[in-house]
Amino acid sequence: MTLQLKMVKPFAQGGNRLCFVHPLNRERCIKVRRPDFTLADCRRKKGFPKNLRPLAYFDDNRKEYRAIQQLQRSVGPSIFDHVYRCFGFVDTDLGPGLETELIRDADGLISLSLKQFLWEFGYTEPCRQAIEQLTVFWQGEKVPSRDLLTHNIVVQMGRQGAISRLVAIDGLGSPTLVPFRWLPQKIQVKRVATRLQRFESRLSEFVSNCTGGKQPSRVGMLIHRDDSLSKVDAEGVVRDVRR
Ligand SMILES: Nc1ncnc2c1ncn2[C@@H]1O[C@H](COP(=O)(O)OP(=O)(O)OP(=O)(O)O)[C@@H](O)[C@H]1O
Ligand SMILES: [Mg+2]
Repeated sequence: MTLQLKMVKPFAQGGNRLCFVHPLNRERCIKVRRPDFTLADCRRKKGFPKNLRPLAYFDDNRKEYRAIQQLQRSVGPSIFDHVYRCFGFVDTDLGPGLETELIRDADGLISLSLKQFLWEFGYTEPCRQAIEQLTVFWQGEKVPSRDLLTHNIVVQMGRQGAISRLVAIDGLGSPTLVPFRWLPQKIQVKRVATRLQRFESRLSEFVSNCTGGKQPSRVGMLIHRDDSLSKVDAEGVVRDVRR
């Protein structure tokens, strides 16, 4: 069966993929390559010598699926406390789609990215604690990842406005050719620590930009019906599209 997505509005998009609510299961997300930025476009943009690599190398869906399977094997089921589940590939009219867990808040709305959360609600104490929890987990389990970016982590809210957990939905797996678990423990620890330091400094820069009123880019923001990102009206509008 081919899922029909062309006529459906995605709930979000990143630099590479469009994200849809699964038309037959509201608990799942389907991610497809952006038709306006194909794998070939992505490869072309890289320049020499990276553009010599095969197209499959640039396929985020394929890399992510593999990386999450590997994480499940090496860390065990607790990895899904902070990383979303991936279920494999489905056919869609926009090409192969990666079927994943869709992270929703306790009230059923699609969770905001950390980027959008920080912009809309600020760097609150519960948010600081949730970041600390994620950081401790990442370090303890030595989770291999690319740079941790605020738009690749979502903030799942529980009841009464408390944060339940932060979940990584992109940027997983090691970017290097040598499999991460083959590296000596010391190097694994160092690599993870470096990612976390970079995350921390990027986070402080982002928070201070937000405090200064600098509007963030649209990547990783849920798509609003009127496409506005105004702080004043965002909440109502966002809630409308997060169903
Ligand atoms: N499973 C999910 N549950 C909730 N929100 C999600 C989920 N997957 C993606 N999102 C939202 O969609 C946005 C874009 O998704 P994603 O990061 O997968 O796209 P991308 O094109 O791979 O990103 P990048 O620009 O980092 O390459 C995220 O920032 C997040 O807000
Ligand atoms: Mg992303």
